[in-house]
Formats: sequence, C-alpha cells, structure tokens
Amino acid sequence: MAKILVLAGGVSTERDVSLITGKQIYNALKRNGHDVILTDVYLGYELPDEFKDISLSDLFTKDIDWVKDIPDIREVDPDIAGIKALRSDGDRNYFGPNVIKLCQEADVVFMALHGENGENGRIQACFDLMGITYTGNDYISSAVSMDKGLTKDIFKAYDIPTPQGLRLKKEEYLKQKEAGKLECTVGFPCIVKACCGGSSVGVSIANVPEEFEKALAEAFKYDNEAVIEQYIKGREFSIGVFDGSAMPVIEIAPKVGFYDYKNKYQAGATVETCPADIPDDLASEMKACAEKVFKALRLGSYARMDFMLDNVTGKFYCLEANTLPGMTPTSLVPQEAAAMGISFDELCNKIIELAKSKG
Ligand SMILES: Nc1ncnc2c1ncn2[C@@H]1O[C@H](COP(=O)(O)OP(=O)(O)O)[C@@H](O)[C@H]1O
Ligand SMILES: [Mg+2]
Repeated sequence: MAKILVLAGGVSTERDVSLITGKQIYNALKRNGHDVILTDVYLGYELPDEFKDISLSDLFTKDIDWVKDIPDIREVDPDIAGIKALRSDGDRNYFGPNVIKLCQEADVVFMALHGENGENGRIQACFDLMGITYTGNDYISSAVSMDKGLTKDIFKAYDIPTPQGLRLKKEEYLKQKEAGKLECTVGFPCIVKACCGGSSVGVSIANVPEEFEKALAEAFKYDNEAVIEQYIKGREFSIGVFDGSAMPVIEIAPKVGFYDYKNKYQAGATVETCPADIPDDLASEMKACAEKVFKALRLGSYARMDFMLDNVTGKFYCLEANTLPGMTPTSLVPQEAAAMGISFDELCNKIIELAKSKG
C-alpha cells in the first residue's frame, strides 16, 4: 500500500474534467487500500486550525473526505477567472499552498490533470528536479505530444501516416490576411486546430474560404500557432498503449457532427464500441501503428492515440497522442482495459506500479 496524492484541477479549460477524473481515481485507490489525498494543483490545501500541529505526512491517514465537493458530472464550463480570484497569494507560483510539500510526502503523485500545465510536461520537469515520483509520461514526451505541429513533423520522419497538413503562425496569418492572400493549400474540406489545444477546443472544419478564415480566428484564440490539415472523412478510432503494448481498438461514433468538445463530454452523445467492429488485420495494423507512435514520441507509461479511417481509400491516419488520457470509468482507456478483463480499480493500481518501477 502506498501514500498517493491525486493531483487534479488547475486553471486549464479542462479543469472540471480533471477534477471528475481525479475523484474517480481517488475512490478507486481508496478501494484498493491506499492512503490517498486529492489536491487541486492551483488552489492547494491550507491546513485548518485543528490540523496545524500535525505533519503533512500524517494528513494521508486522517479521516478526511477529500472529494466531497467535487460533482460526478460537469454541468457548466469552469469559471477560470473566478478560480484564479480565490488565490489570496496571487498566482506567481502556479502551485497552490502545500501542493509541492504534499507531493514530496507522497510515494507517488497520480496525475489526473488535463490540458496545459499538466499535460504539456512542465509539471513533470519540475517534479523530476524535485525527486517526486509521478504517473504518466515524462516531460519531453508530454511536451512534444502536446504540440500537434511538432507531433506531425515526427510522424512524417517516422513514416507514421498523418493527414497532409501544415502549421501556421499567427503573425504569418495576419500578414496573409492583410495582403488578401489567405489560402488553404491543403484544399477543402480541411480541419483547423490550435497547435497546443486539447478536448477539441479550437478545432473546426472548414468547407469554404470564409469558414477557413473563421476557423483560423477561432484556433488563434487559444494559441499563437495553428495546424491545418486535410479533412479525413470516415470512421474514428482510438487506441490506448500501456507500457509499450497496444490495448484493444475502440470506435468513437458521435451521433451528430465530429468528436468535438460537446460530443466528448456530454453523456450519450457518442456511441463507443470496444473492441471496434473492424477486420482483425486492420485492428492489428492500427495497433502496431499506435505502438510505433508510442516509441517515436518516446512515451514511457500509458497514452492514447487517435485515428481516422478514410471511408474511400481504406487508409488510416494517426491524428495525435494524448499523454494524460481521460480516466473516468467510462473514458476510452478504461473501456479498453475492461475489454481486456482489467477493471478500473486494477488499471489505477497498474498505473501506480508502472510509475513506481520507473520512478
Ligand atoms: N484531419 C482530420 N480529419 C477529420 N477529423 C479530424 C481531423 N483532425 C481532427 N479531427 C476531429 O477533431 C477531433 C479533435 O482533433 P484532435 O487532433 O484529436 O485534437 P484534440 O483531441 O487534442 O482536441 C478528432 O477527435 C476528430 O473527430
Ligand atoms: Mg484527440
């Protein structure tokens, strides 16, 4: 049994998703008999007066319900400005009160963060320097995977099928727009994405030049660089890779439109089938590709790769790698684990074991 700190929350657009993930992981680890604390990375934990004389290490075994205020489902978008206003000490230090100290007291930090600062490798780099053991991938693979442009360059170098595309800097876009020379060189329809986005935030489809311009303006709301790529019309799949080995393929079929933010987080909006109903040889090829991506991006723990299968050519393309994929019991990786006979609670323990073996 171990002392585990589940790290969640933060101030990214995926804050609430992270807290819900964190709560589920917390409950699973408790059921597994660990001493667990859940802390918001940004808000931290101020010791109440009654605890002021106890050591932070002893907090792990105090009978506190660390998740009682976290809802089971998210209903509204997080009020990030409101969260920031809660920090009386200002936010020069991203880590809230006692967060680092609690992480240092834990045997393992379970990363339940999503989005920037958590998924982009910065916290991992900081933890490496502090000797803190954490779940998930290291700083460099996280940073590279978060950048869809860089990921695409690596895919090309390793012969990993990626939709034809390019990156565009905001300043270049503004110049082209001003000169009336904004052109979609990959043709229509295309997909425009914020380079370092997640959860489909800043992702849109463009069918005509006016939509293209709108899609770019949307992507540049979130990032100074955008990725523009050929739209692949067809079925969508995802594959988890655990310690180098691919899990079963899952198919994701949104009832309406593409796998955008709403379809990702609204219960019942998407039909998910695992194992996917595809021929065995196609499943094997896609799984081999997911494992190749894992290696190419130097991933080391667990990750989930997204794929599109072209309806017409039958060719598949890898869209990206997610280094901290969703981890509620109904998220994709836990569904894939279930298809292998691994329960959510077991999966959480396996992730801890993997972190310990590498930490
Ligand atoms: N080239 C593409 N062709 C068709 N659909 C795409 C393409 N790229 C992305 N999408 C759709 O947009 C969703 C989000 O894109 P993705 O690259 O996975 O970014 P993220 O999930 O990090 O926001 C995908 O799950 C898929 O439904
Ligand atoms: Mg994705």
